[in-house]
Amino acid sequence: MIAISRAAQSMTSSAIREILKITQRPDVISFAGGLPAPELFPTDEIRTATDRILTDQPAAALQYSTTEGHLPLRRWIAEQDGLAPDQVQITSGSQQGLDLLGRVLIDPDDVVLVESPTYLGALQAFSPYRPRFVELITDDDGIVPEALDDQLRTLSAKLLYTVPTFQNPTGRTLSAERRQALLEVTRRHRVTIIEDGPYNELRFRGERLPTLFELALADTPDPDELNVIKLGTFSKVLAPGLRDAWVQGPRAVIDKLVLAKQAADLHSPTLNQMIITELLDDVLPRQIKIISEAYGRRARVMIDNVAARFPAGVTCTDPDGGMFCWVTLPDAGIDTAEMLAAAVEECVAYVPGQPFFASGEGNNTMRLSYVTSSEAEIETGIAALSRVIAGRLADGPPLR
Ligand SMILES: Cc1ncc(COP(=O)(O)O)c(C=O)c1O
Repeated sequence: MIAISRAAQSMTSSAIREILKITQRPDVISFAGGLPAPELFPTDEIRTATDRILTDQPAAALQYSTTEGHLPLRRWIAEQDGLAPDQVQITSGSQQGLDLLGRVLIDPDDVVLVESPTYLGALQAFSPYRPRFVELITDDDGIVPEALDDQLRTLSAKLLYTVPTFQNPTGRTLSAERRQALLEVTRRHRVTIIEDGPYNELRFRGERLPTLFELALADTPDPDELNVIKLGTFSKVLAPGLRDAWVQGPRAVIDKLVLAKQAADLHSPTLNQMIITELLDDVLPRQIKIISEAYGRRARVMIDNVAARFPAGVTCTDPDGGMFCWVTLPDAGIDTAEMLAAAVEECVAYVPGQPFFASGEGNNTMRLSYVTSSEAEIETGIAALSRVIAGRLADGPPLR
């Protein structure tokens, strides 16, 4: 019998991936996916850029390249926050950024603070490094800094992982005041923030908020002194299949990430980085506008239908951007994982919320994505889901 490592033993199949398999039936309206809307991909622009690169610079595009990433792309990313290119590491998706950060920053039993709920992929990425996850108290405005301050009086934590803008899974956004307060509390308790921002640009309502990274820079102008590391990605604004993202932060961290990345995969695909570089000036801002507007329309239809149809007592977030909203059923005894089979019978699917909680709570919650369904499908799907929920609420929870 081959002995599996302890790190690998901590890896379990993602509940979401397993669920996605059953929800791929063509007759099921799926709010379960976390995928961007494919009809909005800039396919023609990517084809044209690829042709141009392979005609003009085939050797550069197809040869091995530097681990840090394609310099013009790093330079562009760095300039957005007034950094130097060596404060940016290109990664194969933010997911790889999370894994590499885990490798570089987490020792066994280190306390990693996470939102409640949090992005499941971060729990998966960090778990092999065997941290102790501690959930933060959150409400509709995100992390509650005063509660964090209290927690940190008796707890020594190393890292705080957060998706402060249009969070996956809830769609919530950390308010402007709380951003400042969170920075103040974490600085005082010497906690490093990992700010994950894949949805930052996908705002369809309200005013843009500064990132934690930007706010920290305003107070601490030397980026090497910051207590914030930021992840960004092109997955949600261009195409996730390109697998291009980045980590930015103090050089002490980036230098170690370069070494970790070298060991992992030498470098991210150069051709893809060059394609993205070609799209930065024109296509990227256009895409951000197109995608945000489309997602905003779909979100409105979903939220309005939820408000009109879901039984009394069911709550749903009302996001200002991003891809998801988060539903909480009034009866804590109802298990949305168990209810999913009934929903699929009614030809609608969602992601049960429990896997997004480090504590394993949240049985009565679910994540809905509004981005890959048409407005008509959203209406039909929400009507079906409201019948399923109403049925469960009428039945009461199953006897245990
Ligand atoms: C919060 C968050 N972080 C990271 C990722 C991974 O994105 P990428 O495609 O860049 O690996 C996702 C994808 O859904 C996400 O929601």
